[in-house]
Amino acid sequence: MAQRVPPTVTWVDEDGGAVRMIDQTRLPGELVMLNCTEVECVAQAIERLSVRGAPAIGCAAALGMALAGHTSEAEDVEALVGDLRAARDRLAATRPTAVNLFWALEEMDRVIADRAQEGPHALRQALLERAREIVEDDLQRCMAMGHNALALIPQGANILTHCNAGALATAGYGTALGVVRAAHEAGRGVHVWVDETRPLLQGARLTAWELCMEGIPATLITDNMAGYVMSQGRVDCVVVGSDRIAANGDVANKIGTYTVAVLARRHDVPFYVAAPVSTVDYGLASGDIIPIEERSHDEVAMLAHRVTEPVCPDIAIYNPAFDVTPHDLVDAIVTEKGVARAPYVQSLAAMRD
Ligand code: MRU
Repeated sequence: MAQRVPPTVTWVDEDGGAVRMIDQTRLPGELVMLNCTEVECVAQAIERLSVRGAPAIGCAAALGMALAGHTSEAEDVEALVGDLRAARDRLAATRPTAVNLFWALEEMDRVIADRAQEGPHALRQALLERAREIVEDDLQRCMAMGHNALALIPQGANILTHCNAGALATAGYGTALGVVRAAHEAGRGVHVWVDETRPLLQGARLTAWELCMEGIPATLITDNMAGYVMSQGRVDCVVVGSDRIAANGDVANKIGTYTVAVLARRHDVPFYVAAPVSTVDYGLASGDIIPIEERSHDEVAMLAHRVTEPVCPDIAIYNPAFDVTPHDLVDAIVTEKGVARAPYVQSLAAMRD
């Protein structure tokens, strides 16, 4: 029977005020909640991927700023703003690729600029209100994306997805998995091919878990099987999320997404991206300047918590966490405002908030 996934990241009044999140490093083995009562805890949770996925990182950062206001002992507004600036810098230094992080911090900066003159109490309140709004809006945006994508998903579609762009990667419902959820709820009888997504297995650990919880039919494959299932005619479309979309429609997403897009084009399978407008970085003309996070070599060297023995102990390791899919491989970008098609410079510009 389908069970509900608890909120990915939220504010709770317990412990004198805390940011509560699902600790995604523990899934699927156990569903454990992490309560952060200090902004440093939120920053470290983002870094080690306890909370991950572009929109969820943005929500965590906004709530982290509210927490920084809440925990600051400053009595005057100047000192409070100083503490908030330090919190902002710490959160901004956690992960470089997902633009939603910086978008959310800018939203919180705007609250500071607009409300600081009302004094520390009002500023603290305003930060919490805005952070809660960002979380609630994200959920609404995901549901709107799911609805907007329905026109793209045929009855009985076999949908391939990469990484986790589900409820766990957002405030709830998901972007790519929001499309899957909406199609499932609309009775489309969809089935999902889940790429395991090496090195950290967000597909096998998180997407498979979410789909299982929802009772949506799914099949787990290793990343190197995607081409074969496409060649068998068993994939009708690909739907993925994104961490940052350049103004021209180039899409940064989890490492391996580009490979899937190339395979999809080779097999005439439509490749769709679902992301909120807050993922579009209108300041970047193209994807080649999107900053790509590089993570620890251990993530590549370790497989199922065991060090894979290299033939040569000095072998080099490269671990980019994301790649960029050029816009010409993207058939549509679904946002909460509608479905954008090429030329993306125009269609995405028309959706700008
Ligand atoms: O490193 P992660 O797990 O944060 O990477 C997440 C992804 O690449 C997702 O596909 C992307 O953030 C979209 S989430 C709606």
